Amino acid sequence: MTLNRPQRTLAGFVMTPAQEIARRRTFAIISHPDAGKTTLTEKFLLYGNAVHLAGSVTARKNQRSTTSDWMALERQRGISVSSTVLQFDYRGHAVNLLDTPGHKDFSEDTYRVLTAVDAALMVIDAAKGIEPQTRKLFEVCRRRGVPIFTFINKCDRPTLDPLALIDELESVLGLAPVPVTWPLGNGPSFRGVYDLRHKDVHLFERTPGGAFRSPESVSDLSDPIVKEKLDPDDYAAAVEQLEMLEGAGHAFDLAAVHAGQQTPVFFGSAVNNFGVDLLLQGFLHDSIPPTSRNSVAMNSPGMPAPTDAREVSVTHEKFSAFVFKIQANMDPKHRDRIAFVRVCSGKFSRDMVVTHQRTGKSVRLSSAHKLFGQDRETVDEAWPGDVIGLVGHDAFGIGDTLTEDRTIAYDEIPRFAPEVFAWLTNPTPADAKKYRAGLEQLLLEGVMQSFEVRHAPPGATLLAAVGPLQFEVVQARLETEYNAKSRLTPAPFEHLRWIAPHPSLDTPENLLMPGGVNLGSDKFDHPVILFPNDWTMDYFVEKNPDLKLHDQPIE
Ligand code: G4P
Repeated sequence: MTLNRPQRTLAGFVMTPAQEIARRRTFAIISHPDAGKTTLTEKFLLYGNAVHLAGSVTARKNQRSTTSDWMALERQRGISVSSTVLQFDYRGHAVNLLDTPGHKDFSEDTYRVLTAVDAALMVIDAAKGIEPQTRKLFEVCRRRGVPIFTFINKCDRPTLDPLALIDELESVLGLAPVPVTWPLGNGPSFRGVYDLRHKDVHLFERTPGGAFRSPESVSDLSDPIVKEKLDPDDYAAAVEQLEMLEGAGHAFDLAAVHAGQQTPVFFGSAVNNFGVDLLLQGFLHDSIPPTSRNSVAMNSPGMPAPTDAREVSVTHEKFSAFVFKIQANMDPKHRDRIAFVRVCSGKFSRDMVVTHQRTGKSVRLSSAHKLFGQDRETVDEAWPGDVIGLVGHDAFGIGDTLTEDRTIAYDEIPRFAPEVFAWLTNPTPADAKKYRAGLEQLLLEGVMQSFEVRHAPPGATLLAAVGPLQFEVVQARLETEYNAKSRLTPAPFEHLRWIAPHPSLDTPENLLMPGGVNLGSDKFDHPVILFPNDWTMDYFVEKNPDLKLHDQPIE
């Protein structure tokens, strides 16, 4: 059954569910820290007329004095630990922009956010080109086949050669670049961009701090005004580069963009509002609305029969969604817990009753919010592509499916082999209850992973993460939110691998294992093995050829 009845009126038009879905754009900005993600987000809000929010992004970055203490850690480090969803309307589109933590230690969280998007906008610093974290995040998007749009930022500062920058997209990332706008001038002489589609020039005026929409004039490349405004060398260089692009560039192919093979490229300067409007328009026009998602095969206890894996269309009438992020105690005054869900099919209505697939229980979704930092707005309805925050459901965990159709179960959340390990213990036995409750909650939120191991110091929990800062957050949050002290000591492992099921695991004492190697299991009881270094891992692989090791869990 599909959704097809007109639902409501927007500006005098009756919108069908299909139209509601088609106008949605759900995306994240991926970049290396400092490339300009926050600034660009702020400008998007400015253009989306959510100006009251625009200042808040900076406020979030700079003055987090009213937030909880673990956010003090963010402030102290100048990084963004939490992620927020920004929603605004722009030229008929309903935009969901998912903010992703920028620091490399939080890439696990970022990876999860990327499961909830339909497209990604990659921001590159024009003076630096592709940087390590951009590349890492790009790989996650590529694995998921997410379409990628590119914004080459900071053209108001001396940049690398724009042709070299787009070549890099091809040679380093294997993406076929299709420039949509092209820079005119470079650094201090940057004057605007050429729109290759409409064949016109957009000249910009600098505004103080880029605080307002940048005034711009549009004209033809041969217009004397353009020649007058541009440095003659810059003009000649742009003409030459554009000729080269015309001769040797890729022809724009929307299907290839949607398949993640081509990337439309825009140039500009976020801080000065140069090229931002063109980017937003181009992106929303060519980006992809929500599409179907895969439901996995399952055999749940309360169901009459097992269900097969299948595609769930966005127009499927029944509501379905999955949890991709959980954040507790965002506001110390409320001490609440918010599960961020991405709607995949049907329509969300406040107070609806759905099945929490993992437990089989019915739950009423009565408290749904759109969020911006500390501000909340109640949500009465939401459509596929939308992200909403559900408050107060302690049983919801990362990856869980919520649905009106019990035959749907999503398995969208990737897990990655951790790279750093530590033992966590409780130094204050009297506080055992608080310590346990806090640790349990943080694990459910996916702040870090934890593993059971055969040989562990007494009372110690093995924590594992992508970066060490995740451990600091665990300790800071245990203390400030649960009033529980903790002690952290490094655990002597460098690698963790999942082991494919094998009879010899029933008698692990017979395995040939070098000293320091430890066996254990993840929270789903999948066997894992931990190695202190490369040498022990190589030795184990050589001596136990029948055991297959994987850097992701084997389902
Ligand atoms: P991030 O979220 O990707 O980490 O980057 P963010 O937007 O915070 O930008 C990093 C720095 O780059 C900021 O400067 C920001 O002002 C600057 N920036 C962003 N876009 C442009 C641009 O188009 N041109 C130039 N020249 N600079 C740009 P900051 O000094 O770290 O902070 P602030 O004091 O300016 O806010």
